[in-house]
Amino acid sequence: MKSVLVTGSSGLIGSEVCHYFVTELGYKVHGIDNNQRAVFFGPQGDTRWNQQRLEHGLRGFEHHELDIRDRDGVRALLAQLRPHAIVHTAAQPSHDRAAAIPFDDFDTNATGTLNLLEAARQACPESPFVHMSTNKVYGDAPNSIALRELETRWDYAEPTYEHGIAESFTIDQSKHSLFGASKVAADVMVQEYGRYFNMPTCCLRGGCLTGPNHSGVELHGFLSYLVKCNLEGRHYTVFGYKGKQVRDNIHSLDVARFMAAFVAAPRSGEVYNLGGGKANSCSILEAFAITEGFTGKGQQYTYTDQNRAGDHICYYSDLRKMRAHYPEWDITKSLNTTIQEIVEAWRQRAA
Ligand SMILES: NC(=O)c1ccc[n+]([C@@H]2O[C@H](COP(=O)([O-])OP(=O)(O)OC[C@H]3O[C@@H](n4cnc5c(N)ncnc54)[C@H](O)[C@@H]3O)[C@@H](O)[C@H]2O)c1
Repeated sequence: MKSVLVTGSSGLIGSEVCHYFVTELGYKVHGIDNNQRAVFFGPQGDTRWNQQRLEHGLRGFEHHELDIRDRDGVRALLAQLRPHAIVHTAAQPSHDRAAAIPFDDFDTNATGTLNLLEAARQACPESPFVHMSTNKVYGDAPNSIALRELETRWDYAEPTYEHGIAESFTIDQSKHSLFGASKVAADVMVQEYGRYFNMPTCCLRGGCLTGPNHSGVELHGFLSYLVKCNLEGRHYTVFGYKGKQVRDNIHSLDVARFMAAFVAAPRSGEVYNLGGGKANSCSILEAFAITEGFTGKGQQYTYTDQNRAGDHICYYSDLRKMRAHYPEWDITKSLNTTIQEIVEAWRQRAA
């Protein structure tokens, strides 16, 4: 029986990957998580509910309580399991939170990734290694693209970016936030293990990854948190750019499907921009309207002129490289369906 090791298994992406590899592909799944999200974000970020959901509902899933910063622990587990594939989603995932916890952020995102890469090289160098990176590796360089202002959103004015941001976009000489910088270190290291050691690695530079199993908090999990505020009648704070800032949203199932496609036909040292693309993009104002359509409740929000440091004004991923390399893969969940699922999930969790 094939096995996959998934780090961050109690998180949004990790849990979806566990589910997909067990139910769709028949893998044995080993999850690593230590509920660090609750340490990063407090009780609202607690992911134990999701760990329990996997342990009780998913045959073939085994939880390992391990911190990816524990180099010896990671090495020992990899040596024991020698999994057929590794999907690395554990991270300090917040752009804004990183400045307050620079060492925790770097030790988790950069050093934790290196711990896994080196342990994999020693135990199972032929196993595909999928790393969840982020579009924040581009820093705020996308903000230098000329924009046009539409009624409810910003959009690129230059035809070059008609399909969005491609993988060739510069990652250098812009403001990243400490989170973006620690993710750049990991991203380049994952590429290097591909190029230098010829291991089958890839970096997936995520746009907004979302879905019903996110433990969304103000500092991370934009749509999940926005929907939660709507349902609870709480004020959502919009930070600058007139609320017209654009994100592309991809359902965690479509992320897991792409990871499975890569594991089935791996390449070395690859990079993909993994987002919802233009079709699944929305501004915050547009997300309010779609959510209101499903909940029937007006979104309460306050606006502050100060944008988040280094925040993108308009970002959507160019999906053409992914589609060219893996033509059987495409987005299957529309933005509306995704928001509807998030609404239903928060209602159920509150019940
Ligand atoms: N959600 C997004 O919008 C988004 C966008 C771009 C990139 N990403 C990236 O995708 C990945 C997954 O994001 P997510 O939204 O599923 O995050 P998440 O916070 O929901 O899941 C991450 C999980 O990793 C665990 N974890 C954190 N540090 C750990 C450690 N030191 N040891 C063991 N476990 C640890 C957390 O407890 C959590 O359950 C991250 O690398 C993130 O940077 C996410």
